[in-house]
Amino acid sequence: MGFKRYAGVPAIALLSVLACSSTNGAVAPPTSAPPSGVGAPGIGDTDFPLDGNGGYDVAHYDLAIGYTPATKHLDGVATIDAKAAERLSRFNLDLAGLKVRAVSIDGAAATFSRRGDELTVVPARPLAQGAGFKVKVAYSGRPQPLKDSSNLGTFGFIPTADGAFVACEPNGAKTWFPANDHPADKATFDFRITVPKGLTALANGEMAGKPTTSGGRTTFRWRESHPMATYLATATLGDFELREGTTPGGIPNVAAVDPAYHSSLDSLYKTSGRITDYWSKIFGPYPFSSTGGVIDNFAAGYALENQTKPLYGGFHPDESIIAHELAHQWFGDSVSIRRWRDLWLNEGFATYAEWLWWEHTGRSTTEATFRRNHARPANDRIWKYPPGEARPRDLFNESVYTRGGMTLHALRKEIGDETFFKLLKTWTEQHKYGNATTPEFIALAQRLSGKDLQALFDAWLFQPHRPA
Ligand code: ARG
Ligand code: ZN
Repeated sequence: MGFKRYAGVPAIALLSVLACSSTNGAVAPPTSAPPSGVGAPGIGDTDFPLDGNGGYDVAHYDLAIGYTPATKHLDGVATIDAKAAERLSRFNLDLAGLKVRAVSIDGAAATFSRRGDELTVVPARPLAQGAGFKVKVAYSGRPQPLKDSSNLGTFGFIPTADGAFVACEPNGAKTWFPANDHPADKATFDFRITVPKGLTALANGEMAGKPTTSGGRTTFRWRESHPMATYLATATLGDFELREGTTPGGIPNVAAVDPAYHSSLDSLYKTSGRITDYWSKIFGPYPFSSTGGVIDNFAAGYALENQTKPLYGGFHPDESIIAHELAHQWFGDSVSIRRWRDLWLNEGFATYAEWLWWEHTGRSTTEATFRRNHARPANDRIWKYPPGEARPRDLFNESVYTRGGMTLHALRKEIGDETFFKLLKTWTEQHKYGNATTPEFIALAQRLSGKDLQALFDAWLFQPHRPA
């Protein structure tokens, strides 16, 4: 993000660095494979061994959530449509805290157990490989956000004075719903969020019908009909002022601000509209059915690119950060990473987008921005930290953003503007609504340019010192 970075732990120089050609696109299987019939407790991201789960693929989450700010109590029923990738006598979901009341599969009661953030579900009879199934989890309790003092700050479902601020990158979706909580398993979402009358609940996608009120509580329905990574799901709720319409280019646009940010409502709406339209020209057609932004009165110290509704945590966003979060709609949200170490594919691209916005608006050319950063002293921490291997405890290191952005500028100079911008559009088109990896990006850049770019990417992404 372009607003504030967390100071990372001091970077340690990598002594043996993988050449980028040796990193293949596949997610490694978990180191100790579980016995047959048992879904793995992790999806196979070796840096985050327990994130996500193996053995099935989620197609859709239907989340019915009731929340009461006064008591911080959440009641939820999650109905998850999934498909078994193998025969399953048991499988896991990720869920942190909260009490599970009942689990059923295709309407039949299932047994379950909890251990750490793993919820293990045992169907009455094993699921056949390839079978579609519906798992329903009824749960409740007080969501507890996750806290990480070194790098991530507070994230997940975060109670606020008037409601909740919900920003879940990297793995905080499990603080408010049972999930296959890893970006490698994307799914569509339906939300039904019930809150005390007078409050507004904001989720991804578009409203599916008008809010309905009864017994002093209002239910908001939202639907995200394009695949979404779990960390991009939100149910941010509280006092909000809304402005709704379309961008000048005709894309539905929703801006919402906590009343404390009343003075930014108009500019958030207009700037988000203008930038969404501009990125649609540069990166390819806007991938989703609406755009917008939400400013909540919670000092998160960061923003998050929640799909269709970037969330700004307790500050008036400027054009740079709006350009950044909206660029993520293409890079991160539509084209998602398959493993966290490739995070520069999100953050380097969104940072470069900020520089493109400055160039477009006459503030500074991308070349000048690149040079300014390249002139940082040799002992600057971005040179020691290879951005192509974002580390689990230091994912959002500044190098992943700034040196990641510089990587794209170095590439642009090497292959020329025409090929570079064609590459960006081809990338967003080829991996639309899917997942991708760094080796796939390098391969596409080489194919479109007809050049061997291994040395360039190796120097920029994988070496612990400043590229020439
Ligand atoms: N992806 C966000 C951005 O670059 C940053 C999210 C940081 N997450 C966190 N838990 N601090 O805009
Ligand atoms: Zn970002």
